[in-house]
Amino acid sequence: MAAAPAYMPSSIDRARNIADLRRLARARLPRMVFDYIDGGADDEVTLARNVMRFRDIELIWDALADVSTIDTRTFILGSASASPFCIGPTAVSRLFHPRGGEIAVARAAYAAGIPYACSTIASTSVEAIAAASPGPKWFQVYVWKDRSLVTEMLARAKAASFSAIILTVDVPVAGNRERDYANDFAIPPKITMRTASQALAAPRYLWDLLTTPEVRPANFEHLRIDGGLIGFINAQFDRAVTWDDARWLREQWSGKLAIKGIASPPDAERAVGLGADAVWVSNHGGRQLDTAPATIDTLPAIVDAVRGRAEIILDGGVRRGSDIVKALALGANAVALGRAYLYGLAAGGERGVARALAMLDAELRLTMALCGRAKIDGLTRDLIFQRALP
Ligand SMILES: Cc1cc2nc3c(=O)[nH]c(=O)nc-3n(C[C@H](O)[C@H](O)[C@H](O)COP(=O)(O)O)c2cc1C
Repeated sequence: MAAAPAYMPSSIDRARNIADLRRLARARLPRMVFDYIDGGADDEVTLARNVMRFRDIELIWDALADVSTIDTRTFILGSASASPFCIGPTAVSRLFHPRGGEIAVARAAYAAGIPYACSTIASTSVEAIAAASPGPKWFQVYVWKDRSLVTEMLARAKAASFSAIILTVDVPVAGNRERDYANDFAIPPKITMRTASQALAAPRYLWDLLTTPEVRPANFEHLRIDGGLIGFINAQFDRAVTWDDARWLREQWSGKLAIKGIASPPDAERAVGLGADAVWVSNHGGRQLDTAPATIDTLPAIVDAVRGRAEIILDGGVRRGSDIVKALALGANAVALGRAYLYGLAAGGERGVARALAMLDAELRLTMALCGRAKIDGLTRDLIFQRALP
């Protein structure tokens, strides 16, 4: 029997879930841009596993518990949040929606009452983001070869009232993203036969791209950058970075610090040891080391190692409100979103991101009600079913 065609919503308002927003994003974007969001490293085993392992976890419930008022409010990295999730840092948002970009995401996050994390390789400057959104904001960093570039960025983020930094530690080198090679992907996009035919198949996107400023790493506008964004990244990534450099960064920044890209208890211990306020469990959404375990599988041992000395934020594969319940039940304080909001951004700018956040919030509240747990601190390990039979 032939499989039924996938449901294609006619608009953002008719999208029912993140998978629908993904379908809308795929229809709107040239293939090379969609694949940059959607793809992962090598055979994309970890990318798929992050999502599937959430689905394998079974939830049970308390019957006849009073769930008349569901309260999802919490604090994440010192910022008040309406819900236990935040926007994770992702590069060059204007590539996905040239008119909206980072500002659309930051505004939607502010409207939803959740923190926004800006990537170091954002296509909008920290100052412009701060001017557009008064909400809680964090800034993601790498330890570049040129340390003065790092300290300069910390000063600018602080002046723009970013309250926390996130040090990403799972990119000693870029992962092998084969969809990007197949598509001749570059930032800003290069014109080749392949990219031109893909772009012409997405005329509305192409119009937006051609009638807005070029997509560039906006925080480094004052530098001469040869070889596009990827050339810049390759020139600045330092393979020799160690935990001593993370310690150096801790000394440079008096606000909150999260270490993102932790997959093992010893690394969690190192992060806590240098004074990180949060351990951010992540495998970069399956874009770095393929065949790495799903983040949700690495979480319990990391929670046990951290023993409440730092917050735990988890990302990777969060596509449903029930995924958020599972991560919190297994000991995370909050989760971060990546592709879930990027599909919304690509499908419809600020409105699309708002829709993604509203869907996840509604699903989270529904799952909490069905589980008989009305508060965030009621999401505990006993909600996870332990199979007696294989
Ligand atoms: C298009 C894209 C760009 C990303 N850029 C960055 C980045 O600049 N810095 C960073 O720390 N993580 C980056 N990430 C990783 C995300 O912060 C996050 O770890 C990942 O998306 C979570 O997995 P999920 O998308 O399956 O939810 C990026 C992810 C995507 C999909």
